[in-house]
Amino acid sequence: MIKVAVTGACGRMGGLVIESVLISKDMKLVSAIDMTNIGKDIGEVMRTGKLNIPVGDANDIGNILERSKPDVLIDFTIAPAAVKNVMAASRGKINLVVGTTGFTPEQRKQMETAIKSSGVAAVISPNFSIGVNVFWGLLAEAAKRLSDYDIEIIEAHHNQKKDAPSGTAVKAAEVLSETLGGKDLIYGRHGISPRNKEIGIHAVRGGDIVGDHTVLFAGDGERIEIKHQAHSRQAFAKGAVRAAEWVCSARPGVYEMADVLGIK
Ligand SMILES: NC(=O)c1ccc[n+]([C@@H]2O[C@H](COP(=O)([O-])OP(=O)(O)OC[C@H]3O[C@@H](n4cnc5c(N)ncnc54)[C@H](O)[C@@H]3O)[C@@H](O)[C@H]2O)c1
Repeated sequence: MIKVAVTGACGRMGGLVIESVLISKDMKLVSAIDMTNIGKDIGEVMRTGKLNIPVGDANDIGNILERSKPDVLIDFTIAPAAVKNVMAASRGKINLVVGTTGFTPEQRKQMETAIKSSGVAAVISPNFSIGVNVFWGLLAEAAKRLSDYDIEIIEAHHNQKKDAPSGTAVKAAEVLSETLGGKDLIYGRHGISPRNKEIGIHAVRGGDIVGDHTVLFAGDGERIEIKHQAHSRQAFAKGAVRAAEWVCSARPGVYEMADVLGIK
């Protein structure tokens, strides 16, 4: 039985991850950690019925992990919080699945250093859906064949999303830039902005959009759009739980979801 702790337990993603853990016959929820609803039963917070697991205070994460002894911590919080949570889990020799997005390069490096020096295994991905991981691969294939086309990335998310552009769009830009030997990125355009050979990135925010990503390859007389649309956050939660199971038998190191899916 794999013992799981969840940080961001009271959030949109945390709740769905907990639901997926509860229906898995190979997993057991041992701790739920957040900044809100401290001390309340997580099952009652989620309205799924009592689970006898009180929401632990994120400020006390070290002690909570030491007491509950999870094999893996799944984090869906916000970037600065996730860095702290990763440091605490690494110190406690607990494997990690990190779904939080919006990291600066320094925060990303800080997490990777902690993970590597403590000898745990971690899957870090800005998107745990199978479809998006295939989408990133399709972008690389298209870019190889359409290297002189203009490329624009357009993403749309709900009005509560904190970071922009999305981690998925940033990863798409990385994949395209690496495939094309390095590209400048432009975030939106305003005023006089003649197009050069850059990749444009555009973030749309509104309503309850779960997550749309379109990459446009535009040439003379034609264009191709590669598009992924998430219908429900379940796709991310299921992927994160699958990654949690996988990471518990992985060798120490930092992995992507493509490693979990075997599509690298
Ligand atoms: N990788 C993916 O597949 C994927 C999918 C969807 C969302 N996300 C990302 O996951 C993150 C969370 O998204 P959400 O929609 O669930 O947000 P949310 O705002 O609904 O939930 C975040 C939760 O984290 C809690 N929190 C804040 N600081 C904390 C800390 N130090 N320790 C523990 N909990 C803390 C908040 O109180 C809140 O309950 C965002 O960065 C989002 O972009 C990733």
